[in-house]
Formats: sequence, C-alpha cells, structure tokens
Amino acid sequence: MITNNRVSILATVAAAAVLSVAAVPAFARGPAPDPAVKDFQRVVDAAYAKYKDLKDGKNADYIPILTETPSDLFGVVIVTKDGKVYSAGDVDYVFSIQSVSKPFTAALVMTEQSPAALKEKIGVEPTGMAFNSKLALAVYENSVNPLVNAGAIAAVSLVQATSEEQRWNKVQQNLSDFAGRPLTVLEKVYDSEYSTAFGNRGIANLLYNWGRLYSDPEEALRVYTRECSVGVSAKDLGMMGATLANGGVNPLTKKQVMPAKHVPELLAVMATAGFYDESGDWMFTAGLPAKTGVGGGIVAVVPGRFAIAAFSPRLNEAGNSVRSLNAIRDIAGELGVGVFGANPN
Ligand code: DON
Repeated sequence: MITNNRVSILATVAAAAVLSVAAVPAFARGPAPDPAVKDFQRVVDAAYAKYKDLKDGKNADYIPILTETPSDLFGVVIVTKDGKVYSAGDVDYVFSIQSVSKPFTAALVMTEQSPAALKEKIGVEPTGMAFNSKLALAVYENSVNPLVNAGAIAAVSLVQATSEEQRWNKVQQNLSDFAGRPLTVLEKVYDSEYSTAFGNRGIANLLYNWGRLYSDPEEALRVYTRECSVGVSAKDLGMMGATLANGGVNPLTKKQVMPAKHVPELLAVMATAGFYDESGDWMFTAGLPAKTGVGGGIVAVVPGRFAIAAFSPRLNEAGNSVRSLNAIRDIAGELGVGVFGANPN
C-alpha cells in the first residue's frame, strides 16, 4: 500500500526529474539514441543464429596462409556512431583486413589531396569484373576505382611520402585512426601474400608503364600488401565503419580522421564497387555502401547512424564472405535502413 507520504515523495522526485531534464538544453544532453537501437541486439543475435551453420563457400586459398584460418569462425556486430557495440559470436578474433583496407586508404588520398585527385589519377568507375582482373585494367586503362587491386595499389602510391617507411607509417596510422586503436601487421600473412604476389606485381608494373602509378611499383606493391595484412577484428571493422557513419570522427578517440564533406564521395564508391562484380546484386538486395575482404570481413555503413560488420572466412566465387554478407543483408532488411529506402526482402 502506498501511503500519502510516499505518494508525495514520489511526486516530488518525479517533478525534480522532469525539471532537471528540462533545465538541461537539448544540445547538452548528448545525441539522441538511434531510433532503431532497441532492435540492435535482437537483429544481431538473429542473424548470427540464422547463418552460423551455413557452410557454403570456402576460405581464400590463393594467399596460402588464409586456408589455415578456422572456417567456422563467425562474428556479427553493429557499432553506432557514438561507439556503442552490439555483438554476437567471434567479434574479437583478429584476421587480416585485406580489401576492407582499401576505402580507408582512398579516404587518406582524398584527405591529403582531394576527391578530384582520386577521380582523375585512379578513377571511380566500377569495373563489373573481379577484384584482381587484368582484363578490367586493359579495358579501363585510365579509370578503374580505388577498391579493386589496381586502384588500391595506385592509391597507396599516391600517399604523399618521400620514403617507403613514411608511406607505410601514414597508411598504418590512418587505418589505426579509423579503428580508434593501434593496428599492426600479421607478419605471416604478409610473408604468405608477398611471396606469391605475382599477379599484383604484374598489375603494379602495368599501371606504372601507363603512367597510372605514382611511386616505385615494388614499393607500392609492398605497402599495399602490408595494408592488406593488417590484423583487425569484426569489432574493429565496425568501429572503422562507425567513423564513416559519424562524419569521419572516430567515436572512441573523437579524432576527425577525414573531412566530413568527403564521406559521401567515399560511400558512393563503396556503394558502386565495394562488392566488385557483385556490387549490383548487393545494392539491389541490401542497399548499403560496404566493403568486403578475402580474409572474410565485411563492413557496411548506414550513413549518419551506424555500421554493421561481420567476419567469417568462407567466400563465394566473387571473394565475398558468404555468412557475413547474408548476416549484414538480413540486418539491413530487418532494420529497413537501405539508403534508397527499406529493402525488406
Ligand atoms: O590483393 C589481394 O588480392 C588481396 N590482398 C586483397 C583482395 C581482397 O580482399 C578482395 N576482396 N574481397
């Protein structure tokens, strides 16, 4: 039974709470939580449960050491633009970032130079071909994009540096700034990839021959291979994506890693080329700018709101993680956050 005294105490406390909220101006109360926040943990758990037994695809094997990653690993995470993490599964396991590094180095080129430099010196056209296609390079000699191998090697060569060490340090620092913690190279992955990088060496030399590579080709190849060998977790990828969702400001460190005004241009390239020759299918079904890597990681960005990331090593024919892409696509559909509107199917 509530006595009169208790009623009046409760009323006083409630009135004080209302007054204290009203007394704090809206801007000082911090950002309002994302409208979908109540669903985040549920959709992450559901996507994890739905796909954890899916065994389709296989680990990348053209980089020999990637066959050794346990294929059953699987993690799914949402990271909000204010750094809140909702996760399920192996979200702390560290694997090689591979091509998920590419948009972040493209961001560095835009930051140091300009979006125009990226467009003119590399290109922003989707190739519609595989990430390592030599045919695409021959057809689109003067314009690929920074998310295929050719454009990513060119992006590394465009980083302003007077030595290989400085070039690498800038690339590594930039990736770390996006993640909000120091990232390091998985040296065994680097050795495995660099000792078998005959295709990428061919690409680097062709670009150089055509005046579309802006440093020594072997230096660019080494720095590119190192960036692909950087170790990250699914949570790191989520934080890197959340930095893009947050206008280029890392949610943890509050550092402005890239200018907010260039984020839309970067997301546009991710939307058109982030899934290589599957980019059309991906945008049709998921509707989010994203980037994949042959290590099994994928990050997708809901602009201005949050990132969805996942990791699982088995890949489809296009080199994209089967479980990760399914999980992220389901979450985007469930939350109705496709950039062109909800993609509920
Ligand atoms: O250059 C390569 O082939 C790898 N380091 C990166 C390729 C990759 O991750 C393609 N993504 N799905």
